Order: sequence, then structure tokens, then C-alpha cells
Amino acid sequence: MDFLEIAKKRYSVRNYSDRKVEAEKLDKILQAAHVAPTAANLQPVHLIAVQEKEGLEKIGKSANIYGAPLAVIVCVDHDKAWVRPFDNKQTSDIDASILTDHMMLEATELGLGSVWVCYFKPDVIRKEFHLPDNLEPVNILAIGYSNKEAADPDRHSLTRIPIKELVSYEKL
Ligand SMILES: Cc1cc2nc3c(=O)[nH]c(=O)nc-3n(C[C@H](O)[C@H](O)[C@H](O)COP(=O)(O)O)c2cc1C
Repeated sequence: MDFLEIAKKRYSVRNYSDRKVEAEKLDKILQAAHVAPTAANLQPVHLIAVQEKEGLEKIGKSANIYGAPLAVIVCVDHDKAWVRPFDNKQTSDIDASILTDHMMLEATELGLGSVWVCYFKPDVIRKEFHLPDNLEPVNILAIGYSNKEAADPDRHSLTRIPIKELVSYEKL
């Protein structure tokens, strides 16, 4: 599938079937994260792939993952992440999000649905998964097979701001 086709096809799935994600598909999703770029290639990231009932229940104490059979907790290591020297901005959230986006689009390519979740209680994830202080959970990507009809890949003219508003050329 052409990249733009995949990007248009992707939508947030908030209703999953019980069908497990095949090991080969999970492997490809994780490979997509593995090849993602990070600032200065410092790779201040760690992924916790959760499929067992116990782990999914732990996540459920922190977030709604809509019954997805797989969730990847995307963590960043603040001791490793690149810091821009001019203003001390740390790029950890950006690094975590590139990995998340790579996984999300790979999941779409594989016929899986996903939803990116930031509405979670980080302290609960920290506690349940015994994260050390330097590791911050930034995103949770819920993945599985959708139980509902797919969203229209041509919906974006209605659901996004007009491209003219999004982009300006040469000046603001
Ligand atoms: C950074 C980020 C955080 C998000 N957090 C949540 C969330 O916590 N729960 C949720 O249901 N959807 C969440 N979403 C999904 C967005 O609501 C969704 O992508 C947006 O409404 C566009 O819809 P679409 O993904 O179907 O195109 C998040 C998306 C992004 C990019």
C-alpha cells in the first residue's frame, strides 16, 4: 500500500474484538519502532508490550484501552534523551512519539486497528510496572482487530482543518 493510502486508512479504533494479535504481526510492529529515528540516535526509549490478561488489567487501572488485546507502553529515559543546548528542551516526548507513530502505521498496514492513548494515570503505570524514576511512560498504543466498520479513508476533508489553514509557504 502507498504510504498516503495507509495514513488515510488509519483511524482510532475504540472497540476491539477478542482476536489476539499474531506473534509475527507484533514482531513487525516492534521492528517498525526499532527503525524509527530519535534525536542524535540516542534511543532513549523502552517499549513494554503487554498481551497477558494480568498486564492488560494493570493498564486498565490507569487507562481505557477499549478492550484491545495488545498495548505497547512507550517509555522514555530522561537520563538518555537529547537536550538542545540553546534552551535545554529535551526531545524525549518527540522520540517516543515517532516510535509510536511508526508502530501505529505498521499496524494499519497489517490490517490491525489502533488507538494512541495519552489519557492515562502515569503514576499508576509507574507503580504497576515498577518503572524506575528515570523512565517515564509517555504514550500507550492499544492495538487489535476492530469490531466495527472502518472509518472512511476520505473523511479528512471533514475532520481536519483545511490544508490551506495548516500550511503557509515561505512566511506565516
Ligand atoms: C497524542 C495523542 C493522544 C491521544 N490520546 C487519546 C486518548 O487518551 N484516548 C483516546 O481515545 N484517543 C486518544 N487519541 C486519539 C485522537 O483522539 C484521534 O487520533 C483524533 O481524534 C483523530 O481521529 P482519528 O485518529 O480517528 O483520525 C490521541 C491521539 C494522539 C495523537
